[in-house]
Amino acid sequence: SIKAVIFDLDGVLTDTAEYHFQAWSALAHKLGVPFDRQDNEQLKGVDRMGSLQFILDKGGLQLPSDEKDMLAKAKNTHYQQLIENISDADLFEGVHPLFNRLKQAGIAIGLASASKNAAMVLNKLGISAAFDYVADAAAIRQGKPHPEIFLTVAKALGIPAQHCVGVEDSLAGLQSILDAGMYAVGIGEKQLLTDANLVYAQIGQLDLDEVLMLGRKAPT
Ligand code: G6P
Ligand code: MG
Repeated sequence: SIKAVIFDLDGVLTDTAEYHFQAWSALAHKLGVPFDRQDNEQLKGVDRMGSLQFILDKGGLQLPSDEKDMLAKAKNTHYQQLIENISDADLFEGVHPLFNRLKQAGIAIGLASASKNAAMVLNKLGISAAFDYVADAAAIRQGKPHPEIFLTVAKALGIPAQHCVGVEDSLAGLQSILDAGMYAVGIGEKQLLTDANLVYAQIGQLDLDEVLMLGRKAPT
């Protein structure tokens, strides 16, 4: 049975995936690297330096590490400007009712975001206290698609992976969940998130009864 639901943040609980996209596309544009929403699907869930490397590789650019650090920093400054004014109004519809139902059912709530800005975003959204455990992205050595982050959260919650559901909007994140041995719920387009056990267009459409039914058979 399901004893924990571990959420991604950007693009799952709020629309910050869009701000990451805007900041990366501005940077790619400055570097003269073509970058569109389709490219961005590969970047979702990927950590900051990994994302920068994707763009540099796409443009066939090789830069020394101090220049890469500067570019990553510039992207982050831009991103932080874009999210400066987000508030509880930016939380996706349906998140509070979902969290309430999970709490009533005694199911733990975890966060597995690769973003070093996650704690700040949770604060702005006013939902920090809802989580039983929030992963520290800075302490994760192998980013998504590696399963480390989801496994770290499950361990901290004290719940074996086969009793966990991960909720993700990204391809890298779904891979991370499945390789952790958890059930995977995708948020977004069914045609894109083909590896997920269940897909909903938005978090507000997540059918908790249907998700909890996953726990009645072994994860694939
Ligand atoms: C999440 C987002 C990515 C972002 C990454 C790192 O996984 O989906 O788009 O690049 O976090 O975020 P950060 O805020 O640490 O640069
Ligand atoms: Mg995401």
